[in-house]
Amino acid sequence: MKKHLACYLALGCCLLVAVSGATTKLPVTTTPESKTSTVPPTTVPTKPTPSTTTSTTTTTTTTTTTTTTSTTPTPPTTPPPPTTTAPPSPPVPKPDPQKYVANISDHNLIIAKMAMQINITYENVDSKMNVSRQINIPSDNRTTAFGSNSSLNDEVLQLTWKSAGTGNNSVLLHFKKDAKTYALTGVEVMVQPQELPHSKYNESVTFAFNKEAYNTTLGNSYRCIRLQTFNLTKTDESTVMAQLSVYDMQFQAFKSDDQTSFGYANDCQFDTPDVVPIAVGCVLAGLVVIVLGAYLITRKRTARGYHSM
Ligand SMILES: *[C@@H]1O[C@H](CO)[C@@H](O)[C@H](O)[C@H]1NC(C)=O
Ligand SMILES: *[C@@H]1O[C@H](CO)[C@@H](O)[C@H](O)[C@H]1NC(C)=O
Ligand SMILES: *[C@@H]1O[C@H](CO)[C@@H](O)[C@H](O)[C@H]1NC(C)=O
Ligand SMILES: *[C@@H]1O[C@H](CO)[C@@H](O)[C@H](O)[C@H]1NC(C)=O
Ligand SMILES: *[C@@H]1O[C@H](CO)[C@@H](O)[C@H](O)[C@H]1NC(C)=O
Ligand SMILES: *[C@@H]1O[C@H](CO)[C@@H](O)[C@H](O)[C@H]1NC(C)=O
Ligand SMILES: *[C@@H]1O[C@H](CO)[C@@H](O)[C@H](O)[C@H]1NC(C)=O
Ligand SMILES: *[C@@H]1O[C@H](CO)[C@@H](O)[C@H](O)[C@H]1NC(C)=O
Ligand SMILES: *[C@@H]1O[C@H](CO)[C@@H](O)[C@H](O)[C@H]1NC(C)=O
Repeated sequence: MKKHLACYLALGCCLLVAVSGATTKLPVTTTPESKTSTVPPTTVPTKPTPSTTTSTTTTTTTTTTTTTTSTTPTPPTTPPPPTTTAPPSPPVPKPDPQKYVANISDHNLIIAKMAMQINITYENVDSKMNVSRQINIPSDNRTTAFGSNSSLNDEVLQLTWKSAGTGNNSVLLHFKKDAKTYALTGVEVMVQPQELPHSKYNESVTFAFNKEAYNTTLGNSYRCIRLQTFNLTKTDESTVMAQLSVYDMQFQAFKSDDQTSFGYANDCQFDTPDVVPIAVGCVLAGLVVIVLGAYLITRKRTARGYHSM
């Protein structure tokens, strides 16, 4: 009976490890839907998406069309209901992922595939209410990718799309590398004031997130199918918030083989740093229980043996 108990305890520990492994969080916040730790087998990393934008040259596309590239269908002039502080605009459906290729220099590419949604909360100066606005990236089929580096060890992927007003909006992903690894070091979102109707802003607004994440071996790509969220703050004003949601993400920076397909994918699913100490603790606890059980059983048997004498 005691042996069985030990077995059950060990089994329980294993279950605990499994459960904690499934729920362990990344350095960056993940949503509750991350509990389903199964990777859909349909997403093949190396499969090139049909909508690939390359940015080797400054090709001036026919952007002279009069169609406004408004990202949300909601008319911005609607006054928010007076009962709530942050009136919920109807949620904008998330966009489909797009693949981007940016040429930094000879034998140095950044490739990325993802879909993003930015949720910016700001004060409407007319109603004095906090409103939120969702912007999708790619906003349409005209989001383009640019790459640049200011030194050998850092580089930037810039996704740019035309604003509903004048100028461009953009998202910048900063990467740095050392001898064997590279990582994302920060994210910046820049939007034109026309994207934030009835705000106090009259020039482009920048939101930033500066924290290292997604440390990856050089030559490999980093993939995260579950939703990743970043809390961004306006660089000079801590009260204005934006949340960047990234869906179906895969990227590779400092890519030197001139191929536009992703290298071996490091999956965020296996970034479970808490599992190891928990597993070790459980194994030790299981051993203690087994040894104790064995000791008790032998003692009982020995005691019985003495009685029969
Ligand atoms: C946008 O952010 C605000 C404030 O954090 C929140 O109330 C709102 O629900 C968010 N909207 C969406 C669609 O995520
Ligand atoms: C990237 O740009 C360099 C020049 O900066 C060029 O020599 C190279 O062919 C380009 N690579 C690709 C894949 O376009
Ligand atoms: C809007 O949000 C900011 C930051 O959370 C807060 O300080 C401010 O009081 C809010 N304004 C209103 C009108 O709710
Ligand atoms: C973008 O999509 C529109 C229709 O949605 C199409 O008319 C246009 O040709 C596309 N532009 C490019 C550059 O693919
Ligand atoms: C950008 O990186 C390339 C090598 O990938 C290097 O030759 C070049 O000097 C870098 N540019 C700057 C400004 O450091
Ligand atoms: C906006 O982006 C386009 C490419 O998408 C570029 O040609 C243009 O120069 C940019 N405009 C500004 C004002 O940066
Ligand atoms: C990635 O992590 C390793 C080990 O913690 C560290 O040595 C390396 O500097 C990190 N890489 C980057 C680019 O920060
Ligand atoms: C924006 O508004 C401020 C005052 O609110 C003014 O000082 C500044 O010149 C304006 N900037 C532009 C580009 O209009
Ligand atoms: C991001 O902001 C939301 C709402 O303000 C908060 O619940 C969440 O904990 C924040 N996440 C991080 C990583 O700071």
